[in-house]
Amino acid sequence: MNSGTYRCLEIFSKSSGEGRITVRNQSNRTEETKHCQYDWLKFVLEPNCEYELDVENAVIGLIYLSGNDNVMETGVAYLDWDETEKKIVCKSKEEQYDTCYREQYHFVPWKNWMNDPNGLCWYRGYYHMFYQTNPYEQHWSNMYWGHAVSKDLIHWTHLPIVLAPQPEALKQADHIKSGAFSGSAVAMEDQVFFYLTRHYGPLEDGPDTIEEQWMTSSRDMLHFEPEQRSISEKPEGASFDFRDPKVLKVGENWYLVLGTNLNGKAAILLYRSSDGKKWNYVHPLLIEQTERIRCFECPDFFELDGHYVAIGAWMSHYDEQGRYQMSRYYIGNWKEETLEVEQSGWFDFGSNCYAMQSFEHEGRRISIGWVSDFYGEYIPVENGANGSMTIPRQLHIKHGRLIMNPVEEIYRLKENVLYVGKKERIQLDEITGNCYYAKIHFEKNTDFSILLGKEEDRAIYFKNDSDGVRIETYGVKTEGIKFQADVTEVKELEIFVDRRLVEVYINDGEAVGTKIFYHSDKNGCFILDGADMEAVSYAEVYTMRSIWH
Ligand code: FRU
Repeated sequence: MNSGTYRCLEIFSKSSGEGRITVRNQSNRTEETKHCQYDWLKFVLEPNCEYELDVENAVIGLIYLSGNDNVMETGVAYLDWDETEKKIVCKSKEEQYDTCYREQYHFVPWKNWMNDPNGLCWYRGYYHMFYQTNPYEQHWSNMYWGHAVSKDLIHWTHLPIVLAPQPEALKQADHIKSGAFSGSAVAMEDQVFFYLTRHYGPLEDGPDTIEEQWMTSSRDMLHFEPEQRSISEKPEGASFDFRDPKVLKVGENWYLVLGTNLNGKAAILLYRSSDGKKWNYVHPLLIEQTERIRCFECPDFFELDGHYVAIGAWMSHYDEQGRYQMSRYYIGNWKEETLEVEQSGWFDFGSNCYAMQSFEHEGRRISIGWVSDFYGEYIPVENGANGSMTIPRQLHIKHGRLIMNPVEEIYRLKENVLYVGKKERIQLDEITGNCYYAKIHFEKNTDFSILLGKEEDRAIYFKNDSDGVRIETYGVKTEGIKFQADVTEVKELEIFVDRRLVEVYINDGEAVGTKIFYHSDKNGCFILDGADMEAVSYAEVYTMRSIWH
C-alpha cells in the first residue's frame, strides 16, 4: 500500500488474545508494532511511501488512511482488508458501493454498524454529520462517533472517527457496555460545542447503568478538546435512562433537553445555562402520559414557524398497529419556560426512522433520522453496512401539523425519465438499478395500490383504500403490521426507492413513511393500479443518480 498524501493509518482491530499489528515502511525499512485487544490504533506514516501490514491474532473491523491536509475534501481513504488472506486487497469503489443491500443516494457508512445522527450542524462551509457507529462489526456494540461532511446535504465525504468509548470500559468489552452515546452540537463563529452522553454499565441495562452528560469542543472538527462533565443534577424520580442531550439557544439563554423516564412516564427534561457550559435543571419539558414507554430517547426541541416543537423517540413501545419504537412530535407555545402542547403526531409512519435530529441553517430547519432495523430484517453480507440515514427533510408547521419535505437538493439527482404521463395504469416491471423517484398527483382521492418491490413471495406496497393510507409488506418479518399514515386522502405523492429503502412523502409532506425492504436483485419495479386511474392528473418516474461515484 502506498501512503500517498496521507500521514496516518487508523485501524480498528479486535483480538481475544495477544493481537499484534506491525506496519512496515518498505522504503526505509523501519517498522512499528502495536498490541491490540479492542483498539483504535493509529500509526504515523510518511507520505508517498510503500507500506506492508502484518496482522497476528487480530481481526480488523475498519482500516483507513487519514491525516492529509485537505481531508475535508478528499475524505479518508478506506482500505479493503481481506480477513481470510490477512492482506489489503484492491477493490473498485463500485464493488463496495453498488450492491443490492446498500443505498445509492442515502447516507450510509462505508461498512459495519451505524445508528443515530449526532452533532448535526453547519460550520465553515460544510454540513457536518456525526453518527453512532460500531466500526468493528455489523451490529450495535460499544459506541464511537463517526463523521462525514457535505456541501449540499446530499453528497457526503467520510472523515475519520472522532470519539471513542472509555478505554477502561473497552478492556472489558465482553461484559461491559460503554461508549460515546448520542448528542448534539452548537456551532459558533470560531468553534463548535458538543454535548453527549457517556454510558457505562452491564450488557443488560439496569440500576447499575451509569449515564452522564459531557461536553467537548472543536475548532477544526477533527481535533477535540478533553471532555468535561456538563450536568451533575439529576431530578428525583428519573430512571437510569438519562441521555442524549440536545442544545438550543433561545435569546440569551441556552437550553438543553434530555430523555429519561420520570416516575414511570417517558419524559423530556429541561436544563438552562447562561454560557452553554454550566447547567441548572428547570423542570420536565414534557411528560408523555402513554404507558409502557421505557423512556424518551434522542429528544429534540426547537422553534419553528412561530411555534415550539419537541420530538422524542418512544423506546421499547408498540403502538396499537403493532409498530415498534415510533417517534412523536409535540407542537405548542413556549411560555415561561413551559411548552404548552397543542398538537401532536407521529414523526414517521413507517417505523424504520428513529432518533431524528434537526438543526437550522440559513432559515431552514433540517432534520435527519436514522433508518433503523427494528424488525431484524438486515441481511449481513461481507463489508455490509447496517444502518443508513433518511433524506434530510425540511420541516415546517401548517394547520397544526409538522410538515416534512425532502430538501430541494435531492432533486438534482433525478436522471433518466422512466415515465411521464397521466390517467392510466403505470407498469414499470424492470427498473434497472432500483433507484428511483416517483411523483403522482391525484385529481381526487381514489383507491390505488403501488407495488414498490417484489421478489418471490416477498413484496412491499403503498396503498390507499377503505383500510387506510399505508405501507404494507408481504413475506417479510413486518407482514401484518399496518404502517398507516395519519391522513384521510391522498392528493400528492413522492416516493423515493433506493435499493433496500423506501421513503414515501404524502400531500406535500403531511405524512412521511420510511420502510426497509430487502431483495437480492438490483432490478426494481413500480406498478400503479386502481379502479379509477382517470384520477391520476400527472405522474412521473425518474431514475436517481448514485451519490457515491
Ligand atoms: C437511540 C440510542 C440513544 C443512545 C444511542 C446509543 O437509538 O439508544 O438513546 O444514545 O442510541 O447508541
